[in-house]
Amino acid sequence: MIHKDIGKVLITEEEIIARTKEMGKMITDDYAEEEPVVVGLLKGSVPFMAELIKQIRLDIEIDFMDVSSYVGTESEGDVRIVKDLDRSIVGRKVLIVEDIIDTGKTLTSVKELMYKKGASDVRIATLLDKPSRRKVQIEGEYVGFEVPNEFVVGYGLDFNQKYRNLPYIGVLKEECYKE
Ligand code: IMP
Ligand code: MG
Repeated sequence: MIHKDIGKVLITEEEIIARTKEMGKMITDDYAEEEPVVVGLLKGSVPFMAELIKQIRLDIEIDFMDVSSYVGTESEGDVRIVKDLDRSIVGRKVLIVEDIIDTGKTLTSVKELMYKKGASDVRIATLLDKPSRRKVQIEGEYVGFEVPNEFVVGYGLDFNQKYRNLPYIGVLKEECYKE
């Protein structure tokens, strides 16, 4: 049953799982015998991260970070750390896992932050990419699906903290975000 607030399903659970398997295989091949630290950005990455790490056949470590962007004041793109990494990443290869690259500001800041913390290499795995909205030039090395310029929810993505648990990516009906 599709949730009543969803206008249409863009990507099904089966498609996500199949694509995640391919991404896991690419990551496994690319990192060869390395032991990357896989860093999920809370909370949107959680369902994708859970699926993806099961498909990576390497000895990895996982960690999580929660950042929020400053509104108004600070220089654009800067992020505030709500929850920092638990362990040092000095000299480590880091794979950031995110739900979507939209304007690109969040990931640009987080990537920079990882290098500042001493990472030797930083790459990005994202479930979704919305290239039409990009404000800063950044690409994910591992991208699940490109989505059109529509507000999507499910599989980790929310609207006002809701819909993260939907097992598919769907477009929210307009009446649900416009009063
Ligand atoms: P960026 O810094 O603009 O790339 O921000 C990306 C963040 O905005 C993501 O981690 C999401 O939390 C949120 N976001 C962007 N587009 C959507 C969307 O269509 N649905 C839900 N959240 C979104
Ligand atoms: Mg997010």
